[in-house]
Amino acid sequence: MKHIISPTDLTVSELNELLDLAEAIIQNPKKYANVCHGKKLATLFYEPSTRTRLSFEAAMLNLGGNILGFSSADSSSAAKGESVADTIRVISSYADICAIRHPKEGAPLVASLYSSIPVINAGDGGHNHPTQTLTDLLTIKNLKGRLNHLTVGFCGDLMFGRTVHSLIGALARYDHIKFVMISPEELRIPTYIREEILDQNHIPYEEVRRLEDAIPKLDILYMTRVQKERFFNEEEYIRLKDTYILDAKKMTLAKEDMLVLHPLPRVNEIAPEVDNDPRAVYFKQAQFGVYVRMALIMKLLEVEAC
Ligand code: CP
Repeated sequence: MKHIISPTDLTVSELNELLDLAEAIIQNPKKYANVCHGKKLATLFYEPSTRTRLSFEAAMLNLGGNILGFSSADSSSAAKGESVADTIRVISSYADICAIRHPKEGAPLVASLYSSIPVINAGDGGHNHPTQTLTDLLTIKNLKGRLNHLTVGFCGDLMFGRTVHSLIGALARYDHIKFVMISPEELRIPTYIREEILDQNHIPYEEVRRLEDAIPKLDILYMTRVQKERFFNEEEYIRLKDTYILDAKKMTLAKEDMLVLHPLPRVNEIAPEVDNDPRAVYFKQAQFGVYVRMALIMKLLEVEAC
C-alpha cells in the first residue's frame, strides 16, 4: 500500500505514468466512468477548501465510486479532542482511500502510520500540497508540452506557500529547470528548501524583489496568495498582502507564450483584467486537478480501465 504525503513519494517515472494516465482520461473520460464502482473515498478536511476537497470528490464520482467525509474540524469529533491517529483507524474501516487536509504540518504523515488504507496529503500547514503539484505538473505538461527546459518564477508568499514548496521539489527532478524566486525579504523560501533541494541538487536559482525585473525571462509565472492564516501578526499580513499585483501592464513585459498559474484562491495578487489574457491558465489548472486526482485514485487503488 502506498501513501502520498510528499510529491517525492512518487518516482519521476511513476509521476510521468500518472500524468500520462490523466491525459488519457482527458481524451476519453467515459472509458473510466465505472472503474471505482463499489469503492469509497473519505475526505477528512480539518481546514477550509474549495478546489481540493471538491475536485477529489468529483474525481471519485467520475470514476463511479462514492464519497464520505467532513469539511471542517468543527463538524468532526476533532472538536471533542479526538486524535488524527484514532480518527484514521476508524475511517480505515469505512472507506478504501482517504484525502486529509490539516493545519498541522505532518498530520497526514501521522495518519499514514495508523492507516490501513492509502492516505493522500491534501495540504498540511505551510509544508506540502502534493496533489496541487500533480495538478500544476499536468497543467504545464499539457499546455507547454514539456516539464524540462523551463524557467519558472514563483511570486508572492514563498515562505508559507505549501504549493510552492511541493512544486519546487517536484520540478527540481526534471532537466534544465531554473527558478526565479520573487518575494519580499520576509517571505523568502524557507532555508530547508534552499539547502536540501536547491543547493544539494545544484539547481540554478535567483532571488529577486521586483516582479517587473523577473517576468521577461519566465516560461511559467506561478503567482501565490499571501497566506493570511499562517501569520502570527495581522499588521505584518496587512503590510505584505498587496506586495505583488499582476496586471495587464506587467503582462506586456512577459513572453508571448509565458503561462500564468495560480493554485487559487486568489485575493488581490492577480487583477481580474488578466483573466482574459490567453496566457492566464489558472482556471484551466483547477479543472486539470480533477483529472489528475482521478489518475491518482486509480493508481493508489490499483484499478485499471478494461
Ligand atoms: N488550491 C487549493 O488548495 O485550493 P483550496 O484551498 O480551495 O482547496
